[in-house]
Amino acid sequence: MTITAIAASASAAKSSVLVAGATGLIGHFIADACLASGRPTYALIRSIPTCPVRAKVLRSLEEKGAKVLHGLINKKEMMEEILKECKIDIVISAVGGESILDQLPLVEAIKAVGTVKRFLPSEFGHDVNRADPVEPGLRMYIEKRKVRRLIQEYGIPYTYICCNSIASWPYFNNNHPSEILPPLDEFQIYGDGNMKAYFVAGTDIGKFTMKTVDDVRTLNKSVHFRPSCNFYNMNELAALWENKIGRTLPRATVTEDDLLAAAAENRIPESVVASFTHDIFIKGCQINFSVDGPNDVEVSCLYPDEAFRSLDECFGEFALRLKEKHVSSRDENAPSTPMVESLIVTATCA
Ligand SMILES: NC(=O)c1ccc[n+]([C@@H]2O[C@H](COP(=O)([O-])OP(=O)(O)OC[C@H]3O[C@@H](n4cnc5c(N)ncnc54)[C@H](OP(=O)(O)O)[C@@H]3O)[C@@H](O)[C@H]2O)c1
Repeated sequence: MTITAIAASASAAKSSVLVAGATGLIGHFIADACLASGRPTYALIRSIPTCPVRAKVLRSLEEKGAKVLHGLINKKEMMEEILKECKIDIVISAVGGESILDQLPLVEAIKAVGTVKRFLPSEFGHDVNRADPVEPGLRMYIEKRKVRRLIQEYGIPYTYICCNSIASWPYFNNNHPSEILPPLDEFQIYGDGNMKAYFVAGTDIGKFTMKTVDDVRTLNKSVHFRPSCNFYNMNELAALWENKIGRTLPRATVTEDDLLAAAAENRIPESVVASFTHDIFIKGCQINFSVDGPNDVEVSCLYPDEAFRSLDECFGEFALRLKEKHVSSRDENAPSTPMVESLIVTATCA
């Protein structure tokens, strides 16, 4: 390593990071990666989680060295105090879809203190300026765009993480699909199943997000995650899973109209996911633009030596979880069906 690189990594190690939403699905991957990067990590929580899964996440973050702070991002003065007292350099927000506008007072606080070197708002999906889902997904994008506008109006240094889909079976009615096994009874294929999308392991969302936070090349840029090894359509995903479980499953078509109808039901969050599913697998929102604009960077180009976990590996892990479940149900002498199995591994509290 050159002296410049050592100096750069030493200074990176000193940046203190505040993660809002650290107990959430995306937030815990980020907080974990932040701790692994050796940066002082502050996990902001609203209250001690009552949900056992979130409580476990919080315990694990604390054990790894995270400092837990109680606070609400929608309270400007409270956030100002935290940012000043803890000398926060980098703020990463991973609050959920229902809390996007809560970030506006946080942006005000970041502006007021003037010492935050980088802010990553809660994005972690598509490029919200380009994608155009139907309602109710559109509402979330309008809110994310509003947060972007305020950040840019205030001249706050930012990075927008556009990581595309989390590695999992993309259920059209579940906002945390990576916590559930792929199907065990039948595949629901959207349209003709040929539209491709990018899938990124949660741990890689965390790892690559942390690589960007003090990289000068990502300053005021949208960082797109397009790992070529994880570029799959629904038919290929189904074949991959069949290969892991060693049997074939029937396929049912979910048409564009079916997805639009599920979106129109306006059930939150299921309909939001249906509208994104329509945008991804019918309209091709992840691939219908190129990422060579002046404000775009692609993560594999930035870190060509860093490998992504392959979807093959992730599906292999799902298969292992399935096997472990079978073993433990056999141990308990309990009868089990594939449908029950897939529900058992659902870990979300939402
Ligand atoms: N690419 C993908 O496939 C994918 C999948 C899912 C989500 N996403 C995106 O990732 C982002 C995070 O979503 P998520 O599903 O991971 O969220 P989540 O699991 O619902 O977690 C949200 C977290 O934010 C915290 N929070 C909410 N409002 C807050 C406030 N006012 N002050 C402080 N903390 C607050 C929650 O705390 P409590 O425990 O107190 O509720 C929780 O820890 C969103 O932008 C979402 O659109 C992307």
